[in-house]
Amino acid sequence: MCGIVGYCGKKNAEDHIIHGLEILEYRGYDSAGISVLNEDGKLTTVKRVGKLEILKDALTSLHLEGHVGIGHTRWATHGIPSDKNAHPQVSEDGSFSVVHNGIIENFIDLKSKLLAKGYTFKSDTDTEVVANLFQDYNTGDFLETAVKVAKDLKGAFALGIISSHYPGELLGLRYQSPLVLGVDDQGTILASDIPAIMDYTKDIISLENGEIAYCQEDQRSFYSFEGEEIQKNMEHIDWNFEQASKDGYAHFMLKEIHEQAEVIKKALDMKIKDGKVSLGDQSFSKEELASFDKIYFTACGTAYHAAEVGLRFFEEILGLKCQSEIASELKYYQPFIDDKTLLVVVSQSGETGDTLAAMEEAKAKGAKILAITNVVGSSIARQADKVQYCFAGPEISVASTKAYTTQLICLYTIALDFGQKLGLLDDQTHQAYVQDLYDLVGKVDLLLRREDPYKDLAGKIKNAKEIFYLGRGIDYLSAKEGALKIKEISYINAVSFPSGELKHGSIALLEDGVPVIFVITQESLLDKSISNIKEVKARGAYTLSIAMEGMDQVDEVSDDVVKVPRTNPFFAPVLAVLPQQFLAYETSLALGNDVDKPRNLAKSVTVE
Ligand code: G6P
Repeated sequence: MCGIVGYCGKKNAEDHIIHGLEILEYRGYDSAGISVLNEDGKLTTVKRVGKLEILKDALTSLHLEGHVGIGHTRWATHGIPSDKNAHPQVSEDGSFSVVHNGIIENFIDLKSKLLAKGYTFKSDTDTEVVANLFQDYNTGDFLETAVKVAKDLKGAFALGIISSHYPGELLGLRYQSPLVLGVDDQGTILASDIPAIMDYTKDIISLENGEIAYCQEDQRSFYSFEGEEIQKNMEHIDWNFEQASKDGYAHFMLKEIHEQAEVIKKALDMKIKDGKVSLGDQSFSKEELASFDKIYFTACGTAYHAAEVGLRFFEEILGLKCQSEIASELKYYQPFIDDKTLLVVVSQSGETGDTLAAMEEAKAKGAKILAITNVVGSSIARQADKVQYCFAGPEISVASTKAYTTQLICLYTIALDFGQKLGLLDDQTHQAYVQDLYDLVGKVDLLLRREDPYKDLAGKIKNAKEIFYLGRGIDYLSAKEGALKIKEISYINAVSFPSGELKHGSIALLEDGVPVIFVITQESLLDKSISNIKEVKARGAYTLSIAMEGMDQVDEVSDDVVKVPRTNPFFAPVLAVLPQQFLAYETSLALGNDVDKPRNLAKSVTVE
């Protein structure tokens, strides 16, 4: 995710900002930049795509002398990673410089108004709009101008702003995106994340939504977005870097699991306008869609499991038989792919070698490519015809969690977009699906708050030599992802297959205490699943069922049950995966494994 560091005080701004940005490097970024104001009010901005080292090299010959500045590491959301899209974004006349985390949701409206007034824009970012709004509204008083700008902004934003009109001043604005200040008698350091402050001071002041920090030399004061002065309390933190970088969570995986309600909402907000899916020019037109007679899905690992679930929803909405294939297989076997094929490619990193190779092969045969990825400007994003982003933010833990659920959101919304364009969905049905998707946010949140049973459950399975993950229909697809999670981080062999297939051989492996995990969210298959549970219990297996609320018969036959809220059957994998992620996490922890960096695995496998 993007990182902000600003400084206003008696010391050298550049040193503090660069040091803070270095500390935030672990969060992932694709470009970085800095603006510094010198004593005479001259504003210098330097931005570079790539690593901080590249920015630091560019700064060595400049010797930026100044006591006020802002810096940023960017993880692209609007516009590809490039020098011009990196932050800080500067106003047209060069007098205001802005760093921003979050999304200005109404930036298109604001940009049109500024364009009509004659402003020109150099970047593709939403942030540049904020810089130009400051220029447009400038009253001669920095704080007063910020109050006017804040009233116009919708969405989520943490902003750091400096201006050549106001040497010695730094502003921070917060709405739905974190911003904290580190303070001492020499000045103020402003940052999106506590780790960036900790080497400077342990005394911090956190901004709340709708608050402005106004820093002037070594002083600071606080205001509401209405311009009323407010009093803030200082806290003394005694965390170490490890704790702070994981926001207090023990591991990145746990943090990323807990981010899911937030990122699902963000992904939905980016794809739905006025109650309907709206994917803009990053989807195909009705004519293009009508020209496809086949839809293929390809990916690796977790992304493949998301693709398989998405395929089912595509088939439901489009009434068209779709095909999925593991990327390392598809590359060498594409007899039916041609210029009437749409290939949907799913990849968190956008750099997976097998996925890229399968995609290139299909492209050469004339197929059109729609990519779903989390990384703007990645190789897969660049080579695809259309790209839908996941908006999950950087995923640091090797075991994928929030990428999976946001990939599902992308797949669901793309299917709705296609169905809408092809006249296969009436408005009422479309809006009902959209409502069900938005309802997932609260349901995920509910599940995240109910974390307790997993430690005990992990204790029951951690010594197993192997675990079975079973389900029917779409639940089988969820079970596959659950099995992969446990294999990746607990190193226990896990096999998944459709529940009905158990009796055709694998049941021979069942004996006393073997854990069998059932996923049961499909009401229409409940009776059959109950029979399967009885079948394995009769062989002495330990059964844990992940079932939908209201499925009381499951409680009667299973040893343990975790319930998930009821939802549309196609969207159930978004909920059913959460208990499986927690279970894998707790099992890995109980076994003393390195949860975030499991042995033999890499986050991004760029080789074929
Ligand atoms: C690696 C990772 C998996 C991931 C897979 C696909 O194997 O360890 O967690 O699911 O690659 O990665 P992608 O970036 O293409 O989604």
